[in-house]
Amino acid sequence: MIIGVLREEQDNRVSLIPNDVKNLSQKGFSIWIEKEAGIKAGFNDEDYIQAGAQIKDRQEVINADIILAINRFNEMYNLKQGAFIIGLYNPYDLEFTKNFIDRTQGTVNCISLELVPRISRAQSIDVLSSMATMAGYKAVILAAHYSSKIFPLLMTAAGTITPAKVLVIGAGVAGLQAIATSKRLGANVWGFDPRPATKDQIKSVGGNYIEFQIQDFEDKSGYAKQADHNIIQKEIEVLFPYVVQSDIVITTASVPGKKAPILITREMVEKMRIGSVIVDMVAASGGNCELTQKDKIVNFDNKIIIGYSNLPSMVPHDSSKMYSRNIYNLISHLSRNTNRITPDFQDEIDRNIFLVYSREIINEKIKGMMQEWK
Ligand code: NAI
Repeated sequence: MIIGVLREEQDNRVSLIPNDVKNLSQKGFSIWIEKEAGIKAGFNDEDYIQAGAQIKDRQEVINADIILAINRFNEMYNLKQGAFIIGLYNPYDLEFTKNFIDRTQGTVNCISLELVPRISRAQSIDVLSSMATMAGYKAVILAAHYSSKIFPLLMTAAGTITPAKVLVIGAGVAGLQAIATSKRLGANVWGFDPRPATKDQIKSVGGNYIEFQIQDFEDKSGYAKQADHNIIQKEIEVLFPYVVQSDIVITTASVPGKKAPILITREMVEKMRIGSVIVDMVAASGGNCELTQKDKIVNFDNKIIIGYSNLPSMVPHDSSKMYSRNIYNLISHLSRNTNRITPDFQDEIDRNIFLVYSREIINEKIKGMMQEWK
């Protein structure tokens, strides 16, 4: 099969890097790369040619059998019958999913990487985890840039600078990376997450654990359940003093496909010190802070609230490396030692990651959501 790699319109990353072009070529795939697809991530056309790819115009690349595009793209509704698309298309947005299936009549096979199950066998293809790792790191770097305080303790002839206080809300993949990165920069870090398993994890990356546990808060797939109104009120009470005393707050609390809970109220922000920074990583799903605006930096009363929804794109080289490796592992899994994608729906990974295959919605969760939605 031919794999086509599109140039992202509003993203600095690329789906496949030259090293994985080489690896997939060795498995018998041909690779077409849209002109300058990798340039913003630090990979030029020459690198791809040397790795065995062909550089083509976009109109040609969209005729490939497998199309790699991280984000939704205009031509996804008009591809040839039986083509595969692989990327992050947000299938929980049911209006999009319905529209996509209607317009393609199900003839475009869609693998949506948000649907990778969180099981150990699927770790090597778990794009959400690898991108959350990148984003957790970048959130801290952004916070450090906008903060009026530095992170580490400094004892100098000009006096002592105390370490910054960082609070990380939600200690999943992004949150744990944010705790570890803040710690490495010398801050005093606190971590908060109601899932009991996070207690040891927060401590193991150098954070102080804020005592607050809810038993049974985790579902079978390893994700948190959605918190009800009472739980959220209790969380706000517990978090209040920590938020107002923090120099930096990084929030990642979310459940896939649901609106993010508001855990930082306007009142809390009002009471924060001038010059403090909030990085709200879940701005795309509504934000954990009442004042967040998606993809904007808000200055509220001299406190900065950052709502960037695509942090991995701000570290495009390494994000692309990780994304590409996930894609290589995924295609290797799906091709089962051939040079074609051959899904096996007995396999839990395949059953989950396919949004649509051969005119059918495959992922049971999305199928159920679509039926309820109608
Ligand atoms: P994850 O599922 O590993 O972590 C989310 C954490 O939030 C879990 O540990 C969960 O227990 C916690 N949580 C859920 N409900 C909570 C509540 N009511 N109170 C406190 N904690 C709660 O997800 P991951 O991979 O760490 O990503 C976190 C979020 O960051 C996701 O929404 C993801 O979409 C977003 N993200 C944002 C990026 C950006 O560029 N802004 C990039 C990558 C991810």
